[in-house]
Amino acid sequence: MDTIEGIKTRMSIRKFMPDAVPKETLMDIINTAGHSPSYKNTQPWEVLILSGDRKLALSKMLVELLEKGTKPCPDIPEPQSWPETEQARINDLMHKRATATGIDFNDPAVLKRSKEVNFKFYGAPHAIYLYQDKSLTPWSIFDIGLFAQTFMLAAHASSLGTVPQAFATDYAQDIKKFLDIPETKRLVLGISIGYPDKDAVEKAVRTGRDSTNNIVRWVE
Ligand SMILES: Cc1cc2nc3c(=O)[nH]c(=O)nc-3n(C[C@H](O)[C@H](O)[C@H](O)COP(=O)(O)O)c2cc1C
Repeated sequence: MDTIEGIKTRMSIRKFMPDAVPKETLMDIINTAGHSPSYKNTQPWEVLILSGDRKLALSKMLVELLEKGTKPCPDIPEPQSWPETEQARINDLMHKRATATGIDFNDPAVLKRSKEVNFKFYGAPHAIYLYQDKSLTPWSIFDIGLFAQTFMLAAHASSLGTVPQAFATDYAQDIKKFLDIPETKRLVLGISIGYPDKDAVEKAVRTGRDSTNNIVRWVE
């Protein structure tokens, strides 16, 4: 797949076929993502691949925590407010989704259900967790973001779907304990991965992007 075409056609996939992805394919994709640039080539990323019964057991634990009303405590806190421009883009996305599906995303019951499907990794056969030492600075969070994007593009080039999930880190302490990740690590992101459900992809609401003119300022 051509690089530009890959970047422009990648989209978050939220429904997957149950079929497992061969281990070599997952390792190849992670190897490709490892070619991402990083501050002083520190490569501040660690990757855990979760599949099978352990994935199901983790989902069960997360759904139980949700049912109990446990307050999420991710290592990177969920933003509680946004500047005007970014908030307007969130509103735009929510409006587009609500119009397409008839679902009110501000309804707490809908939010709860959305968390539940996140915790079930949208039915994907695998999820990866990206983490790094907690002492690393914001530059390293930036670097792991580059890794995540390269990972998703490499997966897309192998006809696999992905969705990055901050929500998958909601109960960071419990997740790290469950997965034997030391408490000294910062759980940054979960990414579900698998073969996309093609019907769902066709019906999915594609997210838009602000016009390039709105994000660029020329100084010359
Ligand atoms: C850091 C990050 C965290 C995200 N967290 C979630 C999440 O928890 N659940 C989810 O369904 N999507 C999540 N997304 C996906 C975004 O909603 C999605 O990337 C955005 O709406 C643009 O759509 P696209 O990926 O289809 O281009 C996240 C994306 C990023 C980059």
